[in-house]
Amino acid sequence: MKASAGSRSLALETLAVHAGQPADPTSGAVMMPIVLASTFAQRSPGEHQGFEYSRSGNPTRNALEACLAALEGGKHGFAFASGLGASTTVLHTLKPGDHVLSGDDVYGGTFRLLDKVLAPMGVASSFVDLSDPQAVARSMRPETKLVWLETPTNPMLKIFDIGAIAEIAKKRGARVLVDNTFATPVLQSPLALGADIVLHSTTKYLNGHSDVVGGAVVTSDEAFAERLRFLQNAMGAVPSPFDCYLVLRGIKTLSVRVERATASAANIAERLRAHPKVERVYYPGLETHPNHAVAKKQMRGFGAMISFVLRGGLEPSRRFLSALEIFACAESLGGVESLAEHPAIMTHASVPAEQRKTLGIDDGLCRLSVGVEALSDLWADIEGALDKA
Ligand SMILES: Cc1ncc(COP(=O)(O)O)c(C=O)c1O
Repeated sequence: MKASAGSRSLALETLAVHAGQPADPTSGAVMMPIVLASTFAQRSPGEHQGFEYSRSGNPTRNALEACLAALEGGKHGFAFASGLGASTTVLHTLKPGDHVLSGDDVYGGTFRLLDKVLAPMGVASSFVDLSDPQAVARSMRPETKLVWLETPTNPMLKIFDIGAIAEIAKKRGARVLVDNTFATPVLQSPLALGADIVLHSTTKYLNGHSDVVGGAVVTSDEAFAERLRFLQNAMGAVPSPFDCYLVLRGIKTLSVRVERATASAANIAERLRAHPKVERVYYPGLETHPNHAVAKKQMRGFGAMISFVLRGGLEPSRRFLSALEIFACAESLGGVESLAEHPAIMTHASVPAEQRKTLGIDDGLCRLSVGVEALSDLWADIEGALDKA
């Protein structure tokens, strides 16, 4: 892409292919080079050419960070070695005595980080159903510095109203972070809706090929960005240049992948709802979903994640997950290949059983990440496995 195109406002699909990646000035290479160097020569002590040491900055990582910022419509992008590496670094902007108000249905690893790592260090968290934005007003404390939302949530696919929550939180002086992993910037723009910080596990849709573990943060908040840049270097949870390259490459097809998978998921959710062995389906695109109206307001599509409860509990779900042939029974999500899992035994095992029960993560709950394979093959696979459940 020529530099002059950068002065026009470009659509997300175009930014995904080009943002942060002008053709290499030395060779004209149209793909971002993987700069593996750990250190960079200085002309004289302190006189460097923009890079000193790859933990503090690396050209391939810079390209990814610029691309991430462009996709989320933020000023500053940061890449990390994992989604939890991103979360850990963000949470270190807090100090003992601060409080985090989190949605109740967060990724199990995020819950574990807040409950088992941050709490003993003096940063307390509470986990609240924020489907009603007024719950934010009721649950905030004077020391609440951060409101942490996943929306859609994992695995119950609740939708929280980002704009309404941000309005309440800001009046009380707390920042709002949205984990946009499930929606992706294709379907949801948290910063435009009023959030201060967007976080991703790039392991999922952004990379999209299940061959990288990575994380990202985007913000336009200058003070927060400055502190996060310091912590990114000081704490060191940075990704390798090779992983940055892979994520950049994955992002190029982000919109086509997400659009295709979302269309298939909407169809599968409808068919699951009509299936006699299925007790309940959680998918924000269904009109029966309790937060469907909010999803319609703040999302450009309903995503490719579906959770559903099989009649009969654990044993039928085990049989269903074992009988699938195209869907792999595996943790994670957001890749080109379809995955299926059992949250209570797999991704959310670190959430205490009592809390899982309150959230609805029961023994019959299965979660699907719909990929980009042919819809006819995916449904035949699900139907066949349901027969055996
Ligand atoms: C919504 C969400 N956020 C964060 C994470 C953590 O990301 P990572 O596994 O890349 O550390 C995950 C992982 O599954 C996730 O699903």
